[in-house]
Amino acid sequence: MEALVCRKLGDPTIPPDSSQDSPLTLSKSYPIPKLTSPTSVRVRIKATSLNYATYLQVLGKYQEKSDPPFVVGSDYSGVVESVGSDVTKFKVGDRVCSSTGEGSFAQFMVAEEYQLFGVPEGCDLVAAAAIPLAYGTSYQALVHRSNLKSGQVLLVLGASGGVGLAAVQIGKICGAIVIAVARGSEKVEFLKSVGADHVVDLSNGGIIESVRAFLRTKKLKGVDVLYDPVGGKVTKESLKVLNWSAQILIIGFASGEVPLIPANIALVKNWTIHGFYWGNYEALKPGVIEESSKELLSWMAKGLITIHIHHSYKLQEAHLAFSDIKDRKVIGKVMITFDDPKNITSSRL
Ligand SMILES: NC(=O)c1ccc[n+]([C@@H]2O[C@H](COP(=O)([O-])OP(=O)(O)OC[C@H]3O[C@@H](n4cnc5c(N)ncnc54)[C@H](OP(=O)(O)O)[C@@H]3O)[C@@H](O)[C@H]2O)c1
Repeated sequence: MEALVCRKLGDPTIPPDSSQDSPLTLSKSYPIPKLTSPTSVRVRIKATSLNYATYLQVLGKYQEKSDPPFVVGSDYSGVVESVGSDVTKFKVGDRVCSSTGEGSFAQFMVAEEYQLFGVPEGCDLVAAAAIPLAYGTSYQALVHRSNLKSGQVLLVLGASGGVGLAAVQIGKICGAIVIAVARGSEKVEFLKSVGADHVVDLSNGGIIESVRAFLRTKKLKGVDVLYDPVGGKVTKESLKVLNWSAQILIIGFASGEVPLIPANIALVKNWTIHGFYWGNYEALKPGVIEESSKELLSWMAKGLITIHIHHSYKLQEAHLAFSDIKDRKVIGKVMITFDDPKNITSSRL
């Protein structure tokens, strides 16, 4: 089968196999993974979405280290191709999605049946490849950790990115007043079109004045929940507009800078700071991932959430997907898609 292999850590925006510096190699004869237990399932992958974490993983800068060689990838969707003897939830031909620490930039994946979620009728199979991690993170953080309520003010940093856009959409479903922060007029217009109540354009200046002006017009005191996948300077600015008793969701550090939140200010302002790491949930609270994925897929089937696919690439173009992430071009998700079986010759498997 075809698979994108990280052969050494480095910059994944360098085209695979193009030079000695390229960390990625495109294998056309990677072994198809075998079923690993009677309850395992092999999935023919239709699509896999690129998360920022995978970019960091290949660079060697992610919190969980992977030793090369490994097949790249995390969120994916596809069709069940074979099942172990004790599998009860799925049969060959079922549409599923899931997430993994590595391995989805390939034509096949093997997973335990509890790790897979059925993709209901009415959901686009390619779009479903963005659900488990990107949308799961924002759902868990907003719904379970901060218990976001109707009428509360939610401030989303990095709002046009994968987890940020998910937070904007989920925030609106919860009935929150959503303030989105992004850079550039294209992203601003897009965020308004998906229902953000106010958008701060970082290319026109900072967060504080823009958010305060909006809050004044709505007669609101401040922000109740801060969703922060960016860190650095924008976090520091955002703290200035938080309400008494606000909640801060620490999601990630796309800026490359881990922010410092002064404990003395948190004390005086009665803030709650939530660290959130989706990657722990499968091992420590697997039921939570199942519940959130099912809920999100049902929202998708009802049209309550829509995955905005910025661009879909083929596996051999994966470096372009990494470049889009690195260059902050992506609005929503960037995907890798695979041909349907009828277009795949057996020699390529
Ligand atoms: N805690 C968890 O469980 C969890 C789960 C998923 C993701 N994350 C983390 O969340 C962060 C975002 O992930 P993602 O997949 O949503 O990434 P993404 O799609 O690339 O979005 C990141 C956003 O951050 C903004 N940004 C600001 N400064 C940036 C910089 N210096 N470089 C790149 N982007 C910058 C960009 O928006 P503008 O250009 O508009 O400013 C971009 O839209 C990452 O740090 C990731 O590791 C954490």
